[in-house]
Amino acid sequence: MKLSFEILSPEQAVADCLAFFLPADDSQRARARKAITGIFGAAVEPAFDSKDFKGAETDLVHVYLPASGKVKRLLLVGLGERKRTSLETYRRAAARAARRFRDLKVHSASCVLPESPEPEATLAAMAEGAILALYRFDKYKSSTNDKTRGPETIVFISEDRSLAKKASRALERAVVTAESVCFARDLANAPGNEIYPETLAEAARRSGKRHGYKVRVYDRTALQKLGMGGVIGVAQGSARPPRFIVMEYGTRGKAVVLVGKGVTFDTGGISIKPSANMAEMKMDMSGAAAVIATMEAVARLHLPVHVVGLVPAVENMPSGQSIRPGDILRHYNGKTSEVDNTDAEGRLILADALGYAERFKPAAVIDLATLTGACVVALGHYATGMMGTDEELMKRLKESGDRTYERVWQLPLFDEYEKLIKSDVADVKNVGGRWAGAITAAWFLRKFIGNYPWVHLDIAGTAMLEENGDYTQRGASGVGVRLLVDFLSHWK
Ligand code: BES
Ligand code: MN
Ligand code: ZN
Repeated sequence: MKLSFEILSPEQAVADCLAFFLPADDSQRARARKAITGIFGAAVEPAFDSKDFKGAETDLVHVYLPASGKVKRLLLVGLGERKRTSLETYRRAAARAARRFRDLKVHSASCVLPESPEPEATLAAMAEGAILALYRFDKYKSSTNDKTRGPETIVFISEDRSLAKKASRALERAVVTAESVCFARDLANAPGNEIYPETLAEAARRSGKRHGYKVRVYDRTALQKLGMGGVIGVAQGSARPPRFIVMEYGTRGKAVVLVGKGVTFDTGGISIKPSANMAEMKMDMSGAAAVIATMEAVARLHLPVHVVGLVPAVENMPSGQSIRPGDILRHYNGKTSEVDNTDAEGRLILADALGYAERFKPAAVIDLATLTGACVVALGHYATGMMGTDEELMKRLKESGDRTYERVWQLPLFDEYEKLIKSDVADVKNVGGRWAGAITAAWFLRKFIGNYPWVHLDIAGTAMLEENGDYTQRGASGVGVRLLVDFLSHWK
C-alpha cells in the first residue's frame, strides 16, 4: 500500500473511493453536505438522509456514484462531536475507512483531509490508523478466503497549499513509524518455533544491516564471560541457547538506552504455567520486539539522537537442566537473587541487562517488559504500567503516551514494598508474595539499576490483546514503538 499527500480539491480527485470525514455537529454537517452534493450531485443525498449517517464516531456509509464520473464511490466517515475530537478520533476514523476500502476491494482510495487545528498531526494519525488497521498476521495461512490486502494507493488530499511540504514530511514519518509497529507485531506474533533467541538476534542483525545501525550479538560463552547469571540461568532449561543483543544508533550526546524483555517463549519453567492460554506466551518477547522495531524506526527516520537497544533473549523451559526454585543466581552487577518461582523469569534476565546499561553512562534507561499478570489485573489492556526513579522522565513518557494513545499509568514504588522481596539467603528474592505483583517486580528491577534515571514499562496487558480494535488485532499490538518514537522525537 502506497500512501501519499497531494494538494487537490475533491472535484479533481480520481479514485475508486473518495472518503470524507465529517463531524456530528448539525451545522457543520449541513455545510459539508451542501459542498459535497454540489460536486457529486443528487446521488449522494440518500446517504446524508439515511438514519445510518449522523456523523457519529462509528457511522460509516458508502454510496455509488454514476459510472461516468472520476470517482466511483463516496465514503462518509463520522468523527463524532467536534469538541470531543482528538488525534485518536482521526486515527480511528481512518482505520475504519481503510477496512471499508478493503471490504469493497477498492484499488485506489482518496481521503479528504478534514479541517483541524493541527493538520500535519491529523494527517499522521490518519496514515497510522490506516496502515495499522490493515495489518494481518497471515503468513502461515496457505489459503485465505480473502486475499485482498487493502487498496494499492491511499491519497490524502487537501486544498491548503501551505501544507505541501510539511504534510509530506509528517506523512513519511507516520508511514515509517506504522511500518515499524507492524514489524514489531510480526516478531511478537511469530510462533516460538520460528522466533527463538538465535532467530530474534538474526532479525535484529538483518534490520541493522538494512537500515544502518550497529548490532552486536553475544552467545552463551560470551554471556558466561560477562557474568550474566540471570540470562544463563533462565535459558539453561532450554535446548535453544540464549543471546544478548546490543544495538546502537547515532553517537550525538548521551545515550538513551532501551531494554526489552526477550523471552521468546515462557512456559514458566519448573514452576510451570497451566496449559490454558499458554500459547500467548510466544508474545513474551513483545518488549524486545518494540525495542528492535524502535531502533529500526529511529534509523530510518535519521532522528538526531543516540539510542542503544539491549535485548536479553531466552526461552523459559522446564527440563532436567532447568533452574529450580531455591536456586541462587549471580547477576551482571554482582548481586545475587534467590529464584523462588521460575516463572518470574523476566526480571532475572532484565537484571543483567539493566546492570549492563550502566556501561553507556546513559541519560535515561527505559525498559519494556511483559512482566506481570498483576499489571493486567490492575490496568487491563488499555494502559501500560509505569514505575521509575525519575519523575521528569515519566512526565515525558506520559505526554508521549497521551499524544500516541499508547497510554501509560504510573504505579508507586513506595519504600514499604521493598521488604516484600527480601530473601533469607540472597540479596533479593524474585517474587514478592500475593500483593502488588507489578510493583514488587519493578522493585526487583530497581535493585539492579545503575546510576541513571530509569523507567520501567510493564506492557503485559497492552502488548497482548484479546480482541480486535479499530486499528489493532487480537494478538500482538506492537505497543511501545509509537510511544518511544514520539518520545525520542521530542528528546532534548
Ligand atoms: N510473562 C509473564 C507475565 C504475563 C502474564 C504477561 C500474563 C502477559 C500475560 C511473566 O513471566 C510471569 O509469568 N509472571 C508471573 C510472576 C509471578 C510468578 C510472581 C505472573 O505474573 O504470574
Ligand atoms: Mn513467567
Ligand atoms: Zn514471562
